[in-house]
Amino acid sequence: MSNLLRCLIGGLCLLLLCRQGAAQIAPLIANINARQTTDLDGQWQTIVDPYDVGFLDYRAHPLKNNGAFYKNYKPQSKADFVEYDFDTAGQLSVPGDWNTQRESLLFYEGTVWYKRSFDYAKSPKKRVFLHFGAANYLAYVYLNGEELGHHEGGFTPFDFEVTDRLQTKGNFVILRVNNTRAKENVPTINTDWWNYGGITRPVTLVEVPDTFIQDYSVQLEKGSTRQIRGWLQLNGAQLRQSVTIRIPEAGVSKTLQTGISGRVEFSFDADLKLWSPENPQLYTVNISSETDQVTDQIGFRSIAVRGIDILLNGKPLFLRGISVHEEAPMRSGRAWKDDDARMLLSWAKELGCNFVRLAHYPHNEAMLRVADQMGVLVWEEVPVYWTIQWENPETLRNAQSQLNELITRDHNRAALIIYSVANETPVSDARNRFLSQLIQQAHSSDPTRLVSAALQAHETEHGNRLSIRIDDPIASELDVMGNNEYIGWYNHRISDLDVTDWTSKYDKPLIMSEFGADALFGRHGDSETRWTEEYQESLYEHQIAMLRRIPFLRGTSPWILKDFRSPRRTLPVIEDYFNRKGLVSEHGEKKKAFFVLQKFYRESQIAQTP
Ligand code: GCU
Repeated sequence: MSNLLRCLIGGLCLLLLCRQGAAQIAPLIANINARQTTDLDGQWQTIVDPYDVGFLDYRAHPLKNNGAFYKNYKPQSKADFVEYDFDTAGQLSVPGDWNTQRESLLFYEGTVWYKRSFDYAKSPKKRVFLHFGAANYLAYVYLNGEELGHHEGGFTPFDFEVTDRLQTKGNFVILRVNNTRAKENVPTINTDWWNYGGITRPVTLVEVPDTFIQDYSVQLEKGSTRQIRGWLQLNGAQLRQSVTIRIPEAGVSKTLQTGISGRVEFSFDADLKLWSPENPQLYTVNISSETDQVTDQIGFRSIAVRGIDILLNGKPLFLRGISVHEEAPMRSGRAWKDDDARMLLSWAKELGCNFVRLAHYPHNEAMLRVADQMGVLVWEEVPVYWTIQWENPETLRNAQSQLNELITRDHNRAALIIYSVANETPVSDARNRFLSQLIQQAHSSDPTRLVSAALQAHETEHGNRLSIRIDDPIASELDVMGNNEYIGWYNHRISDLDVTDWTSKYDKPLIMSEFGADALFGRHGDSETRWTEEYQESLYEHQIAMLRRIPFLRGTSPWILKDFRSPRRTLPVIEDYFNRKGLVSEHGEKKKAFFVLQKFYRESQIAQTP
C-alpha cells in the first residue's frame, strides 16, 4: 500500500474519529514551535499511586466511577466518600522527570498522576491540539474527565485533537504516567540508563486553522547538492489547495496544487549554500497554503555513502564524535531545554567534535534544532536495546511507531544524518527479521538519510594477535556499520589494543560507536589502576592508535561525553549509581582522557583523516 494511500485512509479515519468524540492519538503536527501555542508547563498537581488505585479497582478492573482519578471528583457533601484530592496533593515541575525532583522518587517505578487546570478562549474557525514532547513510558491522557487516549514510548512526541472538548473556563487535563518496565516494551526491562519517569518534555496547546499544514519535507534529494525534493500534507476539510514554498534568501518561490488527499510532492532546482559543521547555513523556509502558513529554519546538505566513504555534500567525511545520554549538564535528570542542548554540544565542540551519537533513544527536539544551529551532525536511535522480544508483533509495532514518530519530528533537520535501529542486539533469525523491517521503514519513510545500528563484532585470537571481524548479517542492509567494543575495559588489557586488527565482510564505512573506560573524576593512580583518570587516559591513547589502523573507519563516538545515572552501577564511592565512562563528570569537570580525545580530533581535523 503506498505512502499516499496510507496517509489518505489514515487522515480521513482520524478526522472522522476525532470529530465524533472517540479520541485517538492525532497525526503529529510538524514544527509546533512555529505555531500559535499556549504552553502548559509549570507546576502540576501530582498523586504518586504505586498500586494504581486511581486506575484499577481492588479486582484490578479499570475504574469507571468517580473513584477514577481522571474524574477529579470532589466530595459533594460531608458524607461523600472520595479518597483522592489533587488540590491538596504535592506538585512536580513539568517538563521534568519525577526521580530527581523528590528524594523519595529517585528509584520510583510505577504510576504518577498529573493534573493541570487552565482556561482557554478558542478562536473561531480554529482547531486545537494538546501536544506532548514526551512522557515516559506509558501515558493515559484525559481532558475534563474524558479519556483522550494513550501513548506508549518515553522519547517521542504525541498529540490529541481537543477542538470540541475545550471549555472556556476550568479545563483540567489529567495524565496517568507509568514507567514500569516490562519484557515486551521498547526498551525492555534491562538498560544501563536511569528509568526517568514523568512528563519529561514540554506540554503545549497548539491552535491551527480548520485546514492546516500538518507536515512537510523540504530537503535535498539524496546525493544531490542542488535538487530539492519534498512533499506537503494538509489536514482538514479543504484538502485541495494552492500551496507555495518560498526560500527568500535563495530566490525560490514555487506554487503547487495539492491533490484530493491534501498531499503534493515537488522537486525543483535551487542554488544553495550547503549546510555543514564548518558552515551551518540555515535558510528561512516559508510554506503557505490558502488557509495556513508555517515558517521553518532548514539547512540543505546531502549525505551519502560510496564504498567505505561517507560523503557530506559530495566530499569524504570523518565523523569526530562522542556519545551522549539525554541528561542535563550540571543539574541531574532529563535534559529538555535549549540551554541544556547548547551546553552539551558546546562540550562536544570543545572536544573537537563535528558529530554526536544521541544514545539510545530519541532525544528532545531542542537538541536537534541546536545541533542544526551549531553545526553538529547527529546519529539518532530508537531504544531497540539489548534483548528485545523479537517474536512479539506488539513489540515490533511499538518499535515501528517510535521510529515513525522520530522521523516525523526530525526529518527536516540538516544535522540529522543517521537513523540507528538498534544497539548491541544478539544475532538471531528473529532479531534479523525484526531489524530488517525497521531498516526498510527508515529507508522508505526518509530516503535522504543513512541507516545504521550499533553492532558487536566477534573476535578470534591468532597467536598473540587479536583479530576482530565485522560480519553481522544485518550489516548487509545498513548504509553505515556501527560497532561497540570495550577492549581494555570489559575484556582484555589495554596493551591488547596494540595487537588488535579489524576486518569487515562488507565494503561499508564503520563508525566505532562505543569504546571507553570508567574513571571517577579526581581519582588518580598509575595507568593500570582501574577507575582512575590515568587508566582511562591510557585506554584512550591505545584505542586511538588502534582506530587509526582501521582502513574502513569513518567515525568514532566514544562512550561517553558525561557520567550518567545508571541503576546497574552500584559500586560505592566510585560509581554510586553513575556510569563513570564520561570524559566529563556530572559536575562538568573534565577528566584527563578528555584532552587525549581532543588532541586526536584536532589532529584529524587538520589532516582531514583519522
Ligand atoms: C554498552 C551499552 C551502553 C552502556 C555501556 C557501558 O555497550 O551500549 O548503554 O552504558 O556499554 O557498559 O558502559
